[in-house]
Amino acid sequence: MNAGDHERSPGAVGARVYSTSFLRMYDVGVLGFNNHVAWRCPTSRILEHYNEFVSGNHLEAGVGTGWFLDHCQFPVPDPRIGLIDLNESTLQTASTRLSRYTPETHQADLLEPVHVQTDPFDSLGLCYLLHCLPVDPAQKTQVVPNLRSLLNPGAVVFGATVLGDQAGHNTVGRLMMWGLNRTGVFSNRDDTVEILTTGIEEHLDLVSLEIVGRVALFAGRLRPGTADPDHPDRRTERHAAPKRPGSG
Ligand SMILES: C[S@@+](CC[C@H](N)C(=O)[O-])C[C@H]1O[C@@H](n2cnc3c(N)ncnc32)[C@H](O)[C@@H]1O
Repeated sequence: MNAGDHERSPGAVGARVYSTSFLRMYDVGVLGFNNHVAWRCPTSRILEHYNEFVSGNHLEAGVGTGWFLDHCQFPVPDPRIGLIDLNESTLQTASTRLSRYTPETHQADLLEPVHVQTDPFDSLGLCYLLHCLPVDPAQKTQVVPNLRSLLNPGAVVFGATVLGDQAGHNTVGRLMMWGLNRTGVFSNRDDTVEILTTGIEEHLDLVSLEIVGRVALFAGRLRPGTADPDHPDRRTERHAAPKRPGSG
């Protein structure tokens, strides 16, 4: 992608708000306030979700400030981490924060098939990405096949997303939903758990789906055979395989 191309790509509207100054307020405003008061899903619960499903060979898509990767417990001391996002500022902010892991960074619009030259990953995090995507609710899980060339067969895909109006938001939540959808930061008014589940099951074997407050927490495994056939399984041996869901 050339400089400036990201501004013209289909997903630009959901990514451009994350300037360096916006990101300075993100952890307090979104993770501190919105999660507790508006969405009623404590940040600690999402962190537990990371601790359960993150692998030692992890790709994070839609990275924000990198707070969850900074605080989660990886199953190995030296995880390999990939960060992929459309926005240069988030990549810069998250990679600086996670510099102890020397993450690799990739700039791409996840609404389009992604092809970058790198070894594939064993887990993919999609935290608070889907509700930003300016497409029909049924199209949002298309990010999974768009990223499949970067994933090993059987990779675990997990994340969280704020549900739309049908979830029955409280007063603060309704206000936030109105403002965030109006400005294009969110595009999630019509997102429902049913549409999300159908979308996930199109690409993944569903492992868990839990609604906490107005947030859906999900996890699934890429079906064998759904990884990019052109991309050989080049699992990096120094990194442990992801924990098997249910193994504690
Ligand atoms: C709400 S933030 C989530 C940050 C982080 N995952 C978290 O939960 O704290 C959404 C992130 O997705 C990125 N993003 C939004 N639309 C995107 C797209 N079409 N392609 C790639 N990244 C996108 C934004 O730049 C931002 O980093």
